[in-house]
Amino acid sequence: MNIYHDLAQFYDADLKGHTEDLSLYREMAQRTGGPILEMMCGTGRVLLPLAKAGFQLTGVDLSLPMLEIARPKIAAANLNDKISLLHGDACTIALPQKHFALAFIALNSFMHLTKIADQLATLANMHRSLTSEGLLLLDLFNPDPVALAKEDNRMLLDRQYKLNERLIVKFTASESDLATQTNILTYFYDELDAEGHVTRQLSRFTIRWFYRYEIEHLLARAGFQLQAIYGSYELDSYTSESPRLLVVASPQ
Ligand SMILES: C[S@@+](CC[C@H](N)C(=O)[O-])C[C@H]1O[C@@H](n2cnc3c(N)ncnc32)[C@H](O)[C@@H]1O
Repeated sequence: MNIYHDLAQFYDADLKGHTEDLSLYREMAQRTGGPILEMMCGTGRVLLPLAKAGFQLTGVDLSLPMLEIARPKIAAANLNDKISLLHGDACTIALPQKHFALAFIALNSFMHLTKIADQLATLANMHRSLTSEGLLLLDLFNPDPVALAKEDNRMLLDRQYKLNERLIVKFTASESDLATQTNILTYFYDELDAEGHVTRQLSRFTIRWFYRYEIEHLLARAGFQLQAIYGSYELDSYTSESPRLLVVASPQ
C-alpha cells in the first residue's frame, strides 16, 4: 500500500509555506514551454502555481487520496482545463509519447523508488514521454554521509497545527543505513481532542538516496544525456555542502 494513503490528510498542512522550489519550476517551464509532466504530483503543490502561470500540465500519482485533495483545489482555481490528473504508478503508467516539453519529479519523490528496476522504468517512461528537445528535472536531497551516519532514530517533535479544528502534533524519527543508502522514516501524528485524549497514527516508510555519479549512470542507462547538476533551487553550483542535488537531462 502507498504510504500516502494515510499521509494525504496531513500533507498540505505539513508542507504549508514550503514554496522555495516553485520559482525554479516557473523558470524551467518558461525555458521549455509546455505541456509539462509532473510525476508523483501529490496534492498539486507544484501543479497549481504552474497552471496559474498559464502552462498545460499532466500530473501522475499512485495515491488516490492525494489526487482527491488536488481535484477540488484545481476546480476552485478554475484550472480544470489546464491540469489533467492521472492515477497510476510512475513505473508503468501509459503516457502520450514524445509529448511533453518538461518532465519533472519534485521534492525527493524519486527517492520513494528504492529498487533500481523501478527507478529505470520510471526514467524510461519519462524519456518516452518527452519530445526530443524536452528536459527532465529531478529534485533530490544531497546526501551528507556524516550527518546520515549520526541519525539515531530519536523521535523529535516536528510541528503542531490545527487541522479542521483538530490539534495535530507531529513527531518524526529517522534512521539511516549507509550500505543500502536508505532512510527509514517514522512519523507519529497525534490528534488531541478537547479532553486531551490522543489518537495516534503511525506511518513508516523507506526512501533511498542517490549520489551524483549514480544518478548520472541511471540517467545514461535510461537514454538521457546530462545537461546540468545544480546544488540549490537558485541553481548554485553543486558542492559537498549543497542542500539539493538537482539534475537536468535531455533525451539523447
Ligand atoms: C513527497 S510527495 C510529493 C508530492 C508533490 N510532488 C510535491 O512536491 O508536493 C510524494 C508523492 O509521490 C507519490 N508516489 C510515490 N510512489 C509513487 C509511484 N511509484 N508512482 C506514482 N506516484 C508515487 C506519492 O503518492 C506522493 O503523492
